[in-house]
Amino acid sequence: MRVTVSRKAHFNAAHRLFRKEWTDAKNLEVFGKCSNPNYHGHNYELIVSVTGEIDSDTGFVIDLKTLKNIIKREIEDPFDHKNLNIEVLEFKNLNPTTENIAVVIYNKIKPQLKSSLELEVTLYETARNFVTYSGD
Ligand code: NI
Repeated sequence: MRVTVSRKAHFNAAHRLFRKEWTDAKNLEVFGKCSNPNYHGHNYELIVSVTGEIDSDTGFVIDLKTLKNIIKREIEDPFDHKNLNIEVLEFKNLNPTTENIAVVIYNKIKPQLKSSLELEVTLYETARNFVTYSGD
């Protein structure tokens, strides 16, 4: 019996979507307001879902305190109130689109989980725009 448990989290972060080899005009054309050279912020909402067997001793798939601590340490502490382009190493040469941020979050959390557990990450950049990634 495989069950999915989820935890919501939140962080605020600034970013700029751009390719440095493109002009500001070309970046504006492709990335719109998200290419503002002076950066801008989003209130990111994150849903981390873990699927696995219910442990017969605890009744848990994963202790949500454990999941909460993983999200805090791996995502909230390094991302919250940061400029993703400048202050978060993973985006030094990676455009911080919602897609890429979701993949980075997945890759940071997955190694922290028991290998028998599946992970899915859903990241909202706005209330209406969101991305889901659950590995390849
Ligand atoms: Ni943006």
